[in-house]
Amino acid sequence: MRLFIQFFLFILAAALPASSLAAVKFNPPATPDKARTVAQGYIGFGIEMKSFPDYVGHSTPNKLSKFLLSQLSARTGNSPVHIRVGGTSMDNGVFSPSLTTNATLPASNLAQCRLHTNITIGAPWVRAFEHLGAALARYTLQVPLARKNVPNGVKLADACVKAMPGGPAQLDAIEIGNEPNLYPFAGCGGHDRGPDFTPEVYASGWNAYAQNLQKGVEGLGSSPKRYQALALASNADLGLWNLSKIFKQLDQGGHVKTVSQHYYQGLATGTLKAQLLTHSTTVSKMEHNFRANVEFSHAHNISLVFGEVGPALGGNGDINPALFGTLGGALWSFDFLLYGMSMGITRVSMQLGTNFRMSAWQAVDGEKGHPKAVHGNFYGLVAGADFIGPAGDLKIRTLPMDDHPDIVGYAGYNSGKLTKVAVLNLQIWNKGDGARPQREIALTKLGADVKRVRVSRLTSPDGATDEDNISWAGEQFTAENDGTVKAKGDKPAIINVTNGSPVKPVVVAASEAVLIEVLRN
Ligand SMILES: *[C@@H]1O[C@H](CO)[C@@H](O)[C@H](O)[C@H]1NC(C)=O
Ligand SMILES: *[C@@H]1O[C@H](CO)[C@@H](O)[C@H](O)[C@H]1NC(C)=O
Ligand SMILES: *[C@@H]1O[C@H](CO)[C@@H](O)[C@H](O)[C@H]1NC(C)=O
Ligand SMILES: *[C@@H]1O[C@H](CO)[C@@H](O)[C@H](O)[C@H]1NC(C)=O
Ligand SMILES: *[C@@H]1O[C@H](CO)[C@@H](O)[C@H](O)[C@H]1NC(C)=O
Ligand SMILES: *[C@@H]1O[C@H](CO)[C@@H](O)[C@H](O)[C@H]1NC(C)=O
Repeated sequence: MRLFIQFFLFILAAALPASSLAAVKFNPPATPDKARTVAQGYIGFGIEMKSFPDYVGHSTPNKLSKFLLSQLSARTGNSPVHIRVGGTSMDNGVFSPSLTTNATLPASNLAQCRLHTNITIGAPWVRAFEHLGAALARYTLQVPLARKNVPNGVKLADACVKAMPGGPAQLDAIEIGNEPNLYPFAGCGGHDRGPDFTPEVYASGWNAYAQNLQKGVEGLGSSPKRYQALALASNADLGLWNLSKIFKQLDQGGHVKTVSQHYYQGLATGTLKAQLLTHSTTVSKMEHNFRANVEFSHAHNISLVFGEVGPALGGNGDINPALFGTLGGALWSFDFLLYGMSMGITRVSMQLGTNFRMSAWQAVDGEKGHPKAVHGNFYGLVAGADFIGPAGDLKIRTLPMDDHPDIVGYAGYNSGKLTKVAVLNLQIWNKGDGARPQREIALTKLGADVKRVRVSRLTSPDGATDEDNISWAGEQFTAENDGTVKAKGDKPAIINVTNGSPVKPVVVAASEAVLIEVLRN
C-alpha cells in the first residue's frame, strides 16, 4: 500500500509542473492600435539561382512546387507568391544565351567555392521562368553585381522578363547585387572587390545600373520605382552599411522600391532551444537588425523585405539536424513570420535550394539524404498563411509575455476588428521525455458578439525534433504524387464562447502552436 502511495505521488509529481501552473490569461486589445497592414503576399520564397530550374521545373513545370505554392496562395486569398531569384551563385553568374545544353555551367567546383565561382547561365535556365504564371508567382529578379558587367546584366534581365508568362507585370522588382557588404572580403581565389568598395561606391554604382536596366529591359515603362537595393548579408555591419546615410545617393534616380536584408537567425551547430525557440532571442535579434530600416523605409515610401531567410547557418557540415525540417523548425518559422508581421516587415523570402536542409521542400531527388520531400518547416509557413487568411486588411500585434517566457501570443485584426489569436508554446518536449507538459490559455474580452472559436493546431505526437508526424490543422503534406494532403493529427476544434470567453480553456502542449479564429456567426 505504502509503495502504491509513493508510486501515486510520483505520478502526481510528474504531472505537476504542467497542471499546477495557472492558466495564461490573454485579453487581446479590441483594436490593432498603430499596427501596420500586412501584405497578403507577405510569405514568399528566395530561390538560389543554381536551384531555380529544380524548383520551378526544367523542361516542364515542377508539379510539387506548383502544388505547395498553390496551398499557400489559396490560403491568402489567391494572391501570387513572391519569389526572389538570386543569391551568391547569381552574383557570380554570366549570361550566355549560346549555352543551350545546360541550365548553368560552373567554371570550377561550386561546393568547394561555396557557390562563389564563375558560373555561366544558359538559355534553358531563363526558360524556367515560363513555368509559373502570374496568378501563382511574382518575381524579384536579382542581376549580378559582384563582377559588374552591366550590359550582360541588362541582357539577362530582359531575357528573363520576356520568358515570364505575365511579362513585365509579373516582375515586382529587379534586385542589383547580392550581399555587397561582403564583396571586399568574399570570393574564391581572390576577393570580388577591393577595399575601396564602400557603401558610397555601391550606392552610386547601383543607381547607374538601375538607369541602364530601366532603359535596356523592354516593357518596364516609365515608372522608375522598380528596383531592390541593399540585399545585405545576415549580420552585416549596419553602422557601416547605414541606409539613412546612403539613401539619397542610392535613390538619385527614384529607383528604390524595396530594400532587402538577409536573415539566418541561428548557428547551425547550436541547440533548438537556444537558437530558435527562445522567443526573447528572436525578438532581440530582429529588433536589433531590422527596426531602424523598417522605420526608415516606412518614412520614405519604400518597403523593407527579407530577401533570404533561414533558421541557421554555419557549422561546415557539423550541424544540429534538430534545427531543420522539424516541428521545432516549424514553430520557429511561425513565430518568426508573426513577429515580422508585427514589426511592419513587408515580405519575407524563405530560402530554398536543392540539398539545402533549410528548404521548406526539396523539389527534385538530390544528393544522398535529400529526396524529393516536403520538409517540416513548410508547416510553419502554411500555419502563417492561415493566420494571414483571405480577408485582407490584416493587422497584428503582440500580446504581453509577463511571467511565461515560453508562451507567445499574437492578436490579428481584419478591418480593425479582432479576428484571431495565435499562441505558441516554445517549451521543448520530445517523445521519451515523460508526460508532455501543457498550458491552459484563458482568453477573455473577445467581444460580446463572439459565438465560437475555431482552434487549429501545429503539432506532432513525437515532439519538437520530429520530422515525420507533423500536422497542421489535422493535415499532413507529402511529396507523394507530386503533392498530397492527408488527414493526420488534430482536426480544428470548435469551442463555444460566452461573455467573450471560450467556455473551456484552449490547451497548448509543449512544442505546439494554435491558431484561434474568432467566429461571430
Ligand atoms: C551539361 O549537359 C550535358 C548534356 O545534358 C550533361 O551530360 C553534362 O553532365 C552537363 N554538365 C554539367 C556540369 O552539369
Ligand atoms: C572568373 O572570371 C573572371 C573573368 O570574368 C576571371 O578573371 C577569374 O579568374 C575567374 N575566376 C575563377 C575562379 O574562375
Ligand atoms: C545610421 O545613421 C544615422 C544617422 O546618422 C544614425 O542616427 C544611426 O545611429 C546610424 N545607425 C547605426 C546602426 O549606426
Ligand atoms: C509611394 O510609392 C508608390 C509606388 O510604390 C507611388 O505610387 C506613390 O505615389 C508614392 N508616394 C509618395 C508620397 O511618394
Ligand atoms: C510517425 O512516422 C513514422 C514514420 O513515417 C511512422 O512509422 C509512425 O507510425 C508515425 N507515428 C505516429 C504516431 O503517427
Ligand atoms: C454550443 O452552443 C450551441 C448553440 O449555442 C449549442 O447548441 C451547443 O450544444 C454548444 N456546444 C457545446 C459543446 O457546448
